[in-house]
Parts: sequence; C-alpha cells; structure tokens
Amino acid sequence: MQIINTAKQTQQQVNEWRKAGYTIGFVPTMGFLHEGHKSLIDCSVAENDKTVVSIFVNPTQFAPTEDLEKYPKDFTADSTMCQNAGVDLIFFPQNEEMYPKNFATNITMNGDITKQLCGKSRPTHFSGVCTVVAKLFNIVPADNAYFGKKDAQQLAIITQMVQDLNFSVKIIGCPIIREIDGLAKSSRNSYLSADERKAAVIVSKAIFTGEKLAQENKLTVEQIVNEMHSIIESEPLAKIDYVEIVDLATLTKISQNTIAILGAVAVFIGKTRLIDNFILERK
Ligand code: PAJ
Repeated sequence: MQIINTAKQTQQQVNEWRKAGYTIGFVPTMGFLHEGHKSLIDCSVAENDKTVVSIFVNPTQFAPTEDLEKYPKDFTADSTMCQNAGVDLIFFPQNEEMYPKNFATNITMNGDITKQLCGKSRPTHFSGVCTVVAKLFNIVPADNAYFGKKDAQQLAIITQMVQDLNFSVKIIGCPIIREIDGLAKSSRNSYLSADERKAAVIVSKAIFTGEKLAQENKLTVEQIVNEMHSIIESEPLAKIDYVEIVDLATLTKISQNTIAILGAVAVFIGKTRLIDNFILERK
C-alpha cells in the first residue's frame, strides 16, 4: 500500500492505473476510521481493481465555532486498517497541499438542498464539502466513489454536484453501520463521556421508532415527528437541533411526487452533535 502526500503524485499513480486498464474505487474520509468507513472500503475493494482512500480533515467544512482543532486523529491506526482491508493507496495531504496561500475557488450550490436540515445550523458546511470533494475527484479520477447514507444530505448534495458539473465518477451510497445498541458509528462518538454515550442511544431509538411509524403509514408526518421529539426529549442530556421528515430527493416537504422519504435528526448530547436518519421507499 502506498501513502502519498501530494496531489500530483496521486493523480499520476491513478492515471497510470487507468491507462493499464484497472478500475478505480475511491473512499474520501477525514480519518479516525471505524467500521462505518471500513464498510465503504470493503465495498470499493470488492467492486474495483484498485482502491484509493483519502484522509484529510478539511478545514473549510468547519465553522470557526466547530471542532476542527480537536477533531480526532490516529494515522497509524488508520493506515493499518487500510492495509488490512486491501487498500492500494492512501492520499494523505497536509493543509497547504490542498489549500495553498493563493487558493481562491469555491463551489456553492444554490437551491434548497444545502439550506435544509444540517444547512440551517451549518450554513457554510456544504460549500466546504463540495469544494474539497470536487478537488479530490480531480486528484483521484475514479470510476466509483463510496459515501455513507449516515450523511444522507451530504450524499444527496454530492450526487447533485456530480450531475451538475459532469464529473464522470459514479456515486455509490452505502448503508449506515451501527454499534450493537443502535448508535450510528461516528468519529465524533469518541467525544462522548460514559454517561453521554449511554444517553446517545436515544438518537437511534427515535430513528427506529420513526421508521416503524412511517412504515405503518397510520400517522401523519407531523405526528411521527412529534413522537420522535418526545422520545429524544425524554433524555435529559439530549438537545434537539432538528427532527424532520422530508422528500429524499429535494430535502423539502413530502409531495405526491415523493419516491423516497428521509427521516433525519441532529441532536446534541452534551457538546457533541450527532446525526442519524432512516430512508423509506414510498409504495
Ligand atoms: P467522514 O466523516 O470521515 O466520513 C467519510 C465517509 O464515511 C462518509 O461518506 C460518511 O457518510 C461515511 N460514514 C461515516 N460513518 C458511517 C457509518 N456509521 N456508516 C456508514 N458510513 C459512514 O464525510 C466526511 O468524512 C467528509 O465530509 C468528506 C466527504 C471526507 C469531505 O471532507
């Protein structure tokens, strides 16, 4: 497994593989890898000749008040996981490599998709995500790129960007991987104290109940959202950012044209903001 710090060398290696006729799978990450990331890597290794993982804590997707400085890192553990999983190349750039002093271009998406859900409390976040992912897609010209449904809004936005800007990479969404008690795996779970970790299970409890109620199709969307609210509010350490049920394609109100619904929550457990969701195809 190669570990490369520069964009140019990574591009060269991936282009060489392409010329040799290999298919390329790509998994962009911010490191501190867990079973959620590993499931994306496993998919990529199974479906492509070569797999590239990027590890870069992207500063432009963090607001000044957010956790950029304390975002967890463990490159040694990450590279061991990648090596064991059959990854061929880790792209591991420093900030100056991705954002040199004269860097001046940003991708901003118009419309509701970046303004709903997490976009309300994180208004600059998705512009940072789009900019870095567009750069990464140029640095790693892959056939397939793997993203988790855990970040459902991110997946919808990247899919839209790829369509809008004619990237040739195919975006593949992978299922949410959870802890045994239901909590969705996340690098940010490492911030939780023992009490907070116990309390955090309320987030997936609300998601599972919301999913069941939506499947039963007896209550209105508002009633289901209220149920989910009450479940989360029963936990004193939890503070709701949002609980919403929307059209998966537009992230706005469900309509007659809705093919799939997204039930999504963001909840602070102490200072840690956790997200989770369910997706349901409409019959
Ligand atoms: P990061 O949070 O490291 O996540 C990398 C990828 O792993 C994302 O596609 C995310 O959805 C997926 N993932 C995280 N937890 C998961 C889980 N429990 N189950 C399944 N997939 C999971 O998302 C980012 O990094 C960044 O925004 C990035 C796209 C790399 C751009 O900087």
